[in-house]
Amino acid sequence: MRIIIEKDYNSLSKTASLLVASQTVLKPDSVLGLATGSTPLGMYNNLIEMYKRKEVDFSKVTTFNLDEYYGLSANHPQSYNTYMRENFFDHINIPPSQFYLPKGDTENVTSECYKYEEKIAQAGGIDFQVLGIGENGHIGFNEPDESLNVQTNLVDLTPQTIQANSRFFDSFEEVPKQAISIGIATIMKAKKILLLASGENKAEAIAQMTSGYVTTKVPASLLQTHQDVILLVDEKAGKLLR
Ligand code: F6R
Repeated sequence: MRIIIEKDYNSLSKTASLLVASQTVLKPDSVLGLATGSTPLGMYNNLIEMYKRKEVDFSKVTTFNLDEYYGLSANHPQSYNTYMRENFFDHINIPPSQFYLPKGDTENVTSECYKYEEKIAQAGGIDFQVLGIGENGHIGFNEPDESLNVQTNLVDLTPQTIQANSRFFDSFEEVPKQAISIGIATIMKAKKILLLASGENKAEAIAQMTSGYVTTKVPASLLQTHQDVILLVDEKAGKLLR
């Protein structure tokens, strides 16, 4: 695992955007795995600025997001589909037919999970996966547990994750309690993985995911068995790294 420690969130976001842009230069038809949440927002902003300066081109890129809230339609203001369009896709030149998120309001969740997994496989798998990390070590919405889902599945969010995500909703009650998340193997099959973490509240999870031990109680710890992971943190998130 390569570890890069940046001074602060701004420099972390800049480096993250340069790494994503380099991937699209090396392989213009890259399949990118994308994350939502607070952490990648700066990276998306930088990529939009780079696109405006004609330094990066997304016309041939295909993207798959990690997850979507179960029960929310694509146009729901708090859906991850809306987040991605508002914070990234609407500002770059990716054709709408080339970005995918699980359909949160599906009537057949088993089939939706299967189809999402199939679509990723048909695209040739993920070349470059961007991940955030939960305070509890989750990646995607693969929450700490005795066992983890291999493939895309409907998952229960932990009270801690619901609490953390309630900042985007009017109240705790409004936060969906389940999500459709890609599985651990789907993530681990990505050719390259970039995990971003910013802030002191992530320091413990970052220390645990680099501990030298693998445990499903810290899903991100499994990344230690992947051969091409870049861990990009700011000083606060990296403060317990040895
Ligand atoms: C988001 C996702 C989650 C987040 C994680 C960190 O698509 O899958 O794993 O990356 O919860 O969220 P933030 O960045 O808001 O701290």
